[in-house]
Amino acid sequence: MHTIVASLVPFFLVFHILVPVSSSDSLIQHNNINTNNTLLQCLSLYSESSNPISEVTYFPNTPSYSPTLNSYIRNLRFNSSTTPKPVFILTPSHISHIQASIICCKKFNLEIRIRSGGHDYDGLSYVSEKPFIVLDMFLLRSVVIDLKDESLWVESGATIGEVYYRISEISSVHGFPAGVCPTVGVGGHFSGGGYGNMMRKFGLSVDNILDAKIVDVDGRVLDRESMGEDVFWAIRGGGGASFGVIVSWKIKLVSVPEIVTVFRVEKTLEQGGGDIVHQWQYVADKIHDGLFIRVVVSPAKRKGKKTIKAKFNALFLGNAYELLDVMNESFPELGLIGEQCIEMSWIDSVLFWYNYPVGTLTDILLERHSSKEKFLKRKSDYVQKPISKIGFDGIWKKMIELGKVSLTFNPYGGKMGEISEMATPFPHRAGNIYKIQYSVNWKEESNDVANQYLDRIRKLYDYMTPYVSDSPRSSYVNYRDVDIGVNGDGDVSYEKASIWGKKYFKGNFDRLVEVKTAIDPSNFFKYEQSIPSLASETSIMAEYRQPSKGVSL
Ligand SMILES: Cc1cc2nc3c(=O)[nH]c(=O)nc-3n(C[C@H](O)[C@H](O)[C@H](O)COP(=O)(O)OP(=O)(O)OC[C@H]3O[C@@H](n4cnc5c(N)ncnc54)[C@H](O)[C@@H]3O)c2cc1C
Ligand SMILES: *[C@@H]1O[C@H](CO)[C@@H](O)[C@H](O)[C@H]1NC(C)=O
Ligand SMILES: *[C@@H]1O[C@H](CO)[C@@H](O)[C@H](O)[C@H]1NC(C)=O
Ligand SMILES: *[C@@H]1O[C@H](CO)[C@@H](O)[C@H](O)[C@H]1NC(C)=O
Repeated sequence: MHTIVASLVPFFLVFHILVPVSSSDSLIQHNNINTNNTLLQCLSLYSESSNPISEVTYFPNTPSYSPTLNSYIRNLRFNSSTTPKPVFILTPSHISHIQASIICCKKFNLEIRIRSGGHDYDGLSYVSEKPFIVLDMFLLRSVVIDLKDESLWVESGATIGEVYYRISEISSVHGFPAGVCPTVGVGGHFSGGGYGNMMRKFGLSVDNILDAKIVDVDGRVLDRESMGEDVFWAIRGGGGASFGVIVSWKIKLVSVPEIVTVFRVEKTLEQGGGDIVHQWQYVADKIHDGLFIRVVVSPAKRKGKKTIKAKFNALFLGNAYELLDVMNESFPELGLIGEQCIEMSWIDSVLFWYNYPVGTLTDILLERHSSKEKFLKRKSDYVQKPISKIGFDGIWKKMIELGKVSLTFNPYGGKMGEISEMATPFPHRAGNIYKIQYSVNWKEESNDVANQYLDRIRKLYDYMTPYVSDSPRSSYVNYRDVDIGVNGDGDVSYEKASIWGKKYFKGNFDRLVEVKTAIDPSNFFKYEQSIPSLASETSIMAEYRQPSKGVSL
């Protein structure tokens, strides 16, 4: 993998000289028969002939088109016959296929949607209102570990479950801090931050990335050195798809103990759950940084009466005795006892956290598809001052009244509080006690039903306004939420984009805009929540440019 840059750039340049890219074909209708052939010709021309691109390109009239498209749709809201479909799907098996797709999409005026694991909550990796293609990375998923260097290269189509599994195959004392759901793709996950239950000890995935390879708008293959520190900064949390196609990442492994401890404890309001959640806010971000206690609160029924159930799920990077000591000292209110603690290897804790029964074989992490697909919506918030008991009483009441919507509280602090807000585009560091994820799932396929559920989650989000961060009210970009704003049709404007952009990135949004303007001035990599390029708005750019941040354009 280390030779990719060296071997492909000359190859690409040869074609570039023979067949200069022009946009003169852009008026051709994309959906007539001749154009498919012309598109394929274009793709073939710009890719390496020893890896025929026609074998991995699927037009709607080919039998593999629908199965290939559907297989990585993770939100059934976007699996309907009315969901806009791509002109073709390309599943690159060679880096030149990515280069060709970019060049030919520019030529034929098609948008490109890049999909790795397909977990985008609002489907932005495979749906567009404009004529578009899906570049699906799932064939590019090698994981190459260098244990001596405690690092590995992973291609963006791999899932985090595959990364965890490959690490565990060769070491029982190494791991990587990333998400809890094994089928999430590293392409989207790492480029949007990536957090999981080791975040208080090691930070986010993006805090542990050493290098990356991308293909840019001109089809160039760049690594950290050739893309420069600004672009390397931007793709670690700014959302990859605004800047290019991420081909692979080099990550730094972290040390985990041979034995870790997990627990899962549930308390309803009647069992004192409300007070324990309230107390959790004063503890969870300050406790031992090897301990991560997540709380999931949801409406429930107990003895026929509606209530709220709080589930406390924990990972502790140490044994049960140490954990009991830590809990006894800092969080006795939960009343954790020895029988509730389960010691296991780190890799088994990954399975436990995804609700697999204890004893499940770890190769289930190689399973790329889930049988649990549903219709869903997610939203997010940050809490910076503890919510009062009275505040929670109102929230529980509201949740019971609305029904179905759950809240997941993920504690911050530890390493998260030590990293500067500007170190990566992910700005939610010191000062945040916890993040809230709002979730609602349903099973019925109907627009009316969908609207009812969307209404419930939006009402709860509105109700939470006084309790969460403001100016800006922050959100996590990997919890994609188009409710907070989209770019809209036509040219992407700074003003419009900054509405959602400041929520995801706070003060880092302006630097992302500068990096975008430098690497993709024509705004080819464009979608509902892509970072705008200001190349055609020089005056606005001058206004927002802040040389003090050291961005060299
Ligand atoms: C069940 C579930 C559990 C989750 N758990 C967690 C969690 O524990 N922690 C957490 O941080 N997040 C979590 N997430 C959110 C997840 O991190 C994001 O949805 C992430 O963006 C998914 O990456 P993906 O490659 O699977 O998604 P995709 O839908 O493929 O992509 C998401 C975005 O990234 C872009 N993108 C994808 N691949 C590339 C690429 N190669 N180059 C450039 N851009 C690319 C897409 O175009 C899109 O904009 C979860 C999501 C789900 C559905
Ligand atoms: C060309 O693509 C269109 C849709 O984009 C499809 O309906 C048509 O069958 C395709 N034709 C050929 C020859 O592939
Ligand atoms: C998605 O839609 C396709 C086509 O209608 C269908 O065959 C498939 O089962 C659907 N996927 C799921 C997970 O329901
Ligand atoms: C908890 O700590 C107290 C003192 O702080 C001690 O008396 C008690 O034995 C401890 N309990 C456990 C279970 O360790």
